Amino acid sequence: MALPWKTAWITGASTGIGRELALQLARQGVIVAASARSRDKLEALSHEQAGIIGYPVDVTDPAAVAEVYRRIVDDIGSPDLAILNAGVWHPMKASGYDAQRAAVSMSVNYLGIANALEPLIATMKDKGRGHIALVASVAGYRGLPMAAAYAPSKAAVISLAEVLRLELASDGLTVSVINPGFVETPMTAENSFPMPFIIKANDAASRIIRGLTRNRFEIAFPWQLVTLLKLARILPYRLYLWLARLTNPQ
Ligand SMILES: NC(=O)c1ccc[n+]([C@@H]2O[C@H](COP(=O)([O-])OP(=O)(O)OC[C@H]3O[C@@H](n4cnc5c(N)ncnc54)[C@H](OP(=O)(O)O)[C@@H]3O)[C@@H](O)[C@H]2O)c1
Repeated sequence: MALPWKTAWITGASTGIGRELALQLARQGVIVAASARSRDKLEALSHEQAGIIGYPVDVTDPAAVAEVYRRIVDDIGSPDLAILNAGVWHPMKASGYDAQRAAVSMSVNYLGIANALEPLIATMKDKGRGHIALVASVAGYRGLPMAAAYAPSKAAVISLAEVLRLELASDGLTVSVINPGFVETPMTAENSFPMPFIIKANDAASRIIRGLTRNRFEIAFPWQLVTLLKLARILPYRLYLWLARLTNPQ
């Protein structure tokens, strides 16, 4: 089935989920503007698959993001689809709280999205259509161990997506939030704890594309982990905190 988009912008496209998304979309005929900091990896990706063009940028730099986005619009027009996927995972226990790590997580995972949104919304509104997908995580549902830097940044993304979905519909824009569980990528390669129901990056990308074609608000997977964590989200605090401490003794 033909995809509903002719052009797409993906951030965090040099490795992992973003790279797989770029490859799968381009193989299905979408022209993909691929961004990340690693120029060499983006060049290799463009050589690997026709239809992918690299636009290196650090998403934490608002002026650089605005400039790169201007170039993308000049080259391929306002994209039909934008997947704001760039992210970092810095495991951090509350007992070793490090404000710098918290700042980096917030600045890539949340403000990196904010920097891209400003020019994106403006051009998509002018065009009267567009689909924006924000990549958060199931770790944004509730406070989880080791995630003192990561979880708050992803909770902020989920909240932002809800507001955007509500308010941009009248401008003709669709907004989705993507909440993956564990996916095999460079991000999870160093994790030494168990990662239940982990899936491959190409599987994650296929699920994301399928969900986006259906205009889903939330695209979350795998269902087993999502169900467990969604149940945890509706538990009263006392019960949730007791269970979380039981399963994660300090
Ligand atoms: N893997 C999982 O289990 C999992 C689970 C839930 C959510 N997620 C989310 O899924 C997204 C993709 O993660 P992944 O697993 O595919 O990890 P990954 O392989 O480490 O990819 C992260 C991507 O973000 C880019 N990036 C990092 N900092 C950047 C910056 N300052 N400016 C521009 N690009 C930057 C990286 O490229 P450069 O280093 O070249 O800049 C890379 O392309 C992230 O938002 C992550 O939080 C992943």
